[in-house]
Amino acid sequence: MIGNLNHVAIAVPDLEAATARYRDVLGAKVSEPLDQPDHGVTVVFIELPNAKIELLYPLGDNSPIGNFLERNPGGGVHHLCYEVEDIIAARDRLKAEGARVLGDGEPKIGAHDKPVLFLHPKDFYGTLIELEQA
Ligand code: CO
Repeated sequence: MIGNLNHVAIAVPDLEAATARYRDVLGAKVSEPLDQPDHGVTVVFIELPNAKIELLYPLGDNSPIGNFLERNPGGGVHHLCYEVEDIIAARDRLKAEGARVLGDGEPKIGAHDKPVLFLHPKDFYGTLIELEQA
């Protein structure tokens, strides 16, 4: 059911420093920071040949990654995003298999203007999973 790995999202405590590290030390192509108020994050996109890395930094008071950074002050991998062809079919199959879909179970428009859902990390070995309709 799942297709390509779309991105790995890494929460970082200092977005400028993390961007510079990826650009200058790893030689990666990095975007300008992009505020995404609907998602409570500022994101830097890093384009790799086969996937993206997203550096996430909290934006606003109720950022969904605020707690994560409190628990992981040095930063850490926040989620993986897999592509699916049909997000509703994927959701229904996952629910039928007993996996927990976060929120109200309805897809939201994600960082790439495509429908996304998140799956409970306890059902996937401690990893928060985002599904994005490709
Ligand atoms: Co994501």
